[in-house]
Amino acid sequence: MSASQSDKIQQIYISGLRNQHAVENQAIELLERQVGRLENYPEMADRMRRHIEESREQARRIEELLSHFDTSHSSMKDTMMSLVGNMAAIGHAAAQDEVVKNTFANFAFEHFEIASYTSLLTLADMANHTAARSALETSLREEKDMAVWIANHIEDTTRRYAERAAQGMQAGV
Ligand SMILES: [Fe+2]
Repeated sequence: MSASQSDKIQQIYISGLRNQHAVENQAIELLERQVGRLENYPEMADRMRRHIEESREQARRIEELLSHFDTSHSSMKDTMMSLVGNMAAIGHAAAQDEVVKNTFANFAFEHFEIASYTSLLTLADMANHTAARSALETSLREEKDMAVWIANHIEDTTRRYAERAAQGMQAGV
C-alpha cells in the first residue's frame, strides 16, 4: 500500500472514532433524559445509570485513541449522523407508552453502537493501530451486554406497562 493510501485509511479511521465519540455523547444525553423519569421501572433505571457511566468511559477511551493521532480534542467537532439523531428523537418523544418506545429506541441505539465498534476494530487493524484493539473490544462488549439486557427486558417492560395502564395507574415512565 502506498503512503497516500495509508494516510487515507488513517483518516477514515480517525473520522470513525470521532463519529463514535459523538454517538457516545448522544447516548449519554439520551439515557440521562430517560433515567430520571423511570420511577416505576427501577431495574431499568439502575441498568441505565450503569450504562451512562460506561458510556462516559467509552467516550474517554476514544479521546485517548484520538490523542495518538495528534488531533486536538478541543478542535474535535462532534458531528451527528442522521440515523442516530432520528433514534434520539424517538427516545425524546413523550408518548403515553414512553417506556416501551424508549426500549425500542435504546435497542436500536445499542445495535448501532455494536456495528460502529465492530467497524472501528476493522479500521484499527487496517490502520495498524494495534494498541486500540483492547479498548475498542471492551467498549464493544459493554454495548453487547447492554443490548442483551434490553432484549431480555422487552417482555417484562411491556407487561408492566400494559398492566399498569389497564389498571389506570401511571404506566409509561
Ligand atoms: Fe456506548
